[in-house]
Amino acid sequence: MESRRLGVLISGRGSNLQAIIEAIRDGRLDATVVVVVSNRADAVGLSRAREAGIETIVLPHTGWPARADYDRALVDALRGRDVTLVCLAGFMRLLGPAFIEAFPGRVLNIHPSLLPSFPGLHAQRQALEYGVKVTGATVHLVTAELDAGPIVVQSTVPVLDDDTEETLSARVLVEEHQIYPEAIRLVLDGGWSLEGRRFVVQARASVSSETSGGQLSRNGT
Ligand code: GRF
Repeated sequence: MESRRLGVLISGRGSNLQAIIEAIRDGRLDATVVVVVSNRADAVGLSRAREAGIETIVLPHTGWPARADYDRALVDALRGRDVTLVCLAGFMRLLGPAFIEAFPGRVLNIHPSLLPSFPGLHAQRQALEYGVKVTGATVHLVTAELDAGPIVVQSTVPVLDDDTEETLSARVLVEEHQIYPEAIRLVLDGGWSLEGRRFVVQARASVSSETSGGQLSRNGT
């Protein structure tokens, strides 16, 4: 993607937003968060954005004639700022076709489980109750179906016998903060395609393969 302008949508705490901001600050992610949109005025993440000097918009989801009207207002806000990649980071609203079709293949979401296990709310509680020994976090492209789009990056977290929902969520969150900036970088860098449901990054021979011992270099870098 030539332009690397992010719009981040939040509803609450905004720790993933913070991880994105810090990855950009530390030079691990070459991108700019141009706007943070929240559907809730009391989202803690809004103050994180303001502290980082990022424009914030509060767009309450209530009072719209139809869900699609809210989606269109969101699209207008993001397009008005030339956003090229939309990152859902704890945004607690379902987005409909009006939104997804406006940013084809350019909406990411993070979910606190190894999808397709445990979609929807309380993923960590679902994992504990099911009794899995391993869970994790997933960043995926957003499609019209909840938590079901192509997977970009996943990371695993063991479930310990003495875990509570809180302790497990805290360890999953550490992984979320690692993989979200990484997934954003992968998507922005391009050189990937979808093969069915599979998000595949093409490995191609580096132009400098002779000097680098013939190693393959992802995206030619
Ligand atoms: C995270 O667990 C994320 O995976 C889920 O909502 C939570 C948001 O946390 N979609 P935060 O607002 O980023 O701290």
